[in-house]
Amino acid sequence: MPKPLKHIFVCIQSRPENHPRGSCAAKGGIDVFQAFMQQFDSRKLYDRFALVNTGCLGPCDLGPSVLIYPEGVMYRGIKKTDVATIIEEHLLGGKPVERLMMPKEVWG
Ligand code: FES
Repeated sequence: MPKPLKHIFVCIQSRPENHPRGSCAAKGGIDVFQAFMQQFDSRKLYDRFALVNTGCLGPCDLGPSVLIYPEGVMYRGIKKTDVATIIEEHLLGGKPVERLMMPKEVWG
């Protein structure tokens, strides 16, 4: 297996209804992950990039969250309609999508 150029982590964490932190699953994280899988299948990206579903990445209130390494770029509030843009501009174009990135203050 060749070493992936990037790892894409998509939060699909779920929590009980009315949990104070909410969850990416409740906000559409699973749809986002499925959209990534569809794009990876149709564009044959699995030999270059590693796609992983994951538990909580931290900023649940801004989810669904998507984290891309090695850059350490986190995206927030991702919808399935954003997935093609992230793939086109970030994975294939090498330029993170500024307008979808988590605000810097989240790490403060
Ligand atoms: S539940 Fe997705 S970031 Fe916390």
